[in-house]
Amino acid sequence: MTVRRILTRENPRLRMKSAKVKRVDRPMQTLIDDMIETMRAAEGVGLAAPQIGVLLRVIVCEYVDDETEELHQTVLINPEVLAKEGEWMAEEGCLSIPGYVGTVPRAVRVTVKGKDRKGKDVRIKTDGQLAHILQHEIDHLDGILFTDYLKSLDELREVESPRKRRRRASASGDSAESALSDETPPAGDEDQPEDTIDPAAAEAAVGSSAPTVGRGADDEPGRARQRYRDFCCGARGRRITCQ
Ligand code: NI
Repeated sequence: MTVRRILTRENPRLRMKSAKVKRVDRPMQTLIDDMIETMRAAEGVGLAAPQIGVLLRVIVCEYVDDETEELHQTVLINPEVLAKEGEWMAEEGCLSIPGYVGTVPRAVRVTVKGKDRKGKDVRIKTDGQLAHILQHEIDHLDGILFTDYLKSLDELREVESPRKRRRRASASGDSAESALSDETPPAGDEDQPEDTIDPAAAEAAVGSSAPTVGRGADDEPGRARQRYRDFCCGARGRRITCQ
């Protein structure tokens, strides 16, 4: 697995429409592994292939469910949003726009179909963190950045990148964890939604890599949880109808 360079906002490839994947072959597995590695190295909760310069419709997402403490990993090839319901104002950032965050409208619940990394058809209906991440990552496949939803780039807020913050924490002798100890998860307005997978699709996915992996993967759940908070800009209590 290789950590690839993440393109930033000014790169024209981020504005192009990515092509559908025709074959889920060995090079595709390498691409997916590299994307996961790159996402983790950059401390993101999601990554789309065009962000590493590959104009193919592939996304990876990873986060920890606050309630179950399980690490969820979703890989989707040729994802398509079938339905969106509700709207909330979400705070988010992007690995391609480091150091800035903004508040943008997102659907509360989405139904998405695509293929998993083994090429099996999957359908995901979710209104949790995954719904948020999926919308952001799928946008990348059409050359859309979250900043496109802002009236003006002046609406962007500058934030310290996780990497910088960690450097600062270690320079001051604190561990990154203790430097973050005052951060609390966004407060929920409603019960933690569950990610649901269409039973037919789940059946179709039997024997393949399920979109969810349990605890014990090589990424520590606490770190993954922090990555989602970073994506949401550490916005305490900003959970509006979802998140
Ligand atoms: Ni992004």
